[in-house]
Amino acid sequence: MNQAARAAEAFERLHGRSPAGVWSAPGRVNLIGEHTDYNDGFVLPFAIPHRTAVAASPRDDDTIKVSTLHDRGRAETADPVRISDLAPGTISGWPAYPSGVAWVLRQQGISGGADLVIAGDVPAGAGLSSSHSLECATALALLGLAGSTQSTSDIAKWIQQAENDFVGAPTGLLDQTASLNCTEAHVLFLDVRSGEAEQVPFDASRHGLEVLVIDTRASHSHTESGYGARRRGCEQAAEILGIPALRDVSLDELDGSLAKLPEELRPLVKHVVTENDRVLQTVALLKQDKYAEIGPLLSASHASLRDDYRVSCDELDVAAEAAEAAGALGARMIGGGFGGSAIALVRGDARAEVEAAVTEAFAKRSFTAPRMFTGVPSAGAGQDR
Ligand code: GLA
Repeated sequence: MNQAARAAEAFERLHGRSPAGVWSAPGRVNLIGEHTDYNDGFVLPFAIPHRTAVAASPRDDDTIKVSTLHDRGRAETADPVRISDLAPGTISGWPAYPSGVAWVLRQQGISGGADLVIAGDVPAGAGLSSSHSLECATALALLGLAGSTQSTSDIAKWIQQAENDFVGAPTGLLDQTASLNCTEAHVLFLDVRSGEAEQVPFDASRHGLEVLVIDTRASHSHTESGYGARRRGCEQAAEILGIPALRDVSLDELDGSLAKLPEELRPLVKHVVTENDRVLQTVALLKQDKYAEIGPLLSASHASLRDDYRVSCDELDVAAEAAEAAGALGARMIGGGFGGSAIALVRGDARAEVEAAVTEAFAKRSFTAPRMFTGVPSAGAGQDR
């Protein structure tokens, strides 16, 4: 049963009636372009088949009542809250995500109580954007109930506001834009500054390749991790350089710019500038059908995130190294870092070997066993029924 059907069924069970509608949104993998989004740079994500669905009906009061479906059908219902009482810091845990969306929509004049029932299979804490998939599905559900149609770029910005100000995670625009706009069989080439987006065909299997997603099961949280410190470092560097964002430093200008910065900010700037360039190179190679050649760019991205941006961790490094040693063409951590997932570009006939090598490397270090699946570019968010 897909997540929309699970959410609808649970809604009927909990509320004794059918939902007015069901909306769902996927998690994402970012092929390349990490920690570039809040620097006004480039990203290249695709949606994964795992989704979060929200079954919803309007209520005639100002209250949202949210339930979520856990394993084996057990539902948990958060305390109902009046939307007008919502304020940053009032809600914690998973209900903060749907509540933050209701809070931000109210500021846009889109209000109205709702019963919401959530079902999803995006692994939580795996760096695959489970929280953003929940926020996107909730936003579409509340907008749908209100009969309001908005551009995906507005919705993405509102979700960023909910994350930054309500949930307290200083994240950028990558995850929600990917969840809202990705399409099957494509990567989304997004220029975060201009908002310009291009769907670039991405069919690895046609080239005998697979993107193996490795969930290291080491957990991360962007409210507590060094994510905010990295972001502030980038903003400080841009300020010293007298530019709006690090996007404005070209590869040619990199050395000159680094010389103007205090030592501790240089590695951050080096990562962002080189990573933006790797995104552009990746897009060019994909357009020339040179899929295998993106492998070294993925690996260079990982090295830069590990050594310069310093957001990797042992599990991510071991995953990338073991995959490469077993024949992957390239591998890198994805998402914010400090845990979560890595990807490896592998030839279809080497996949089993790579999987076994990563599993063995984890066992050797007594890490929790990783989970792996093939990342197939899937559909973005929408209404299911
Ligand atoms: C997290 C954030 C994104 C982005 C990535 C790093 O996933 O939510 O906005 O900054 O980290 O690329």
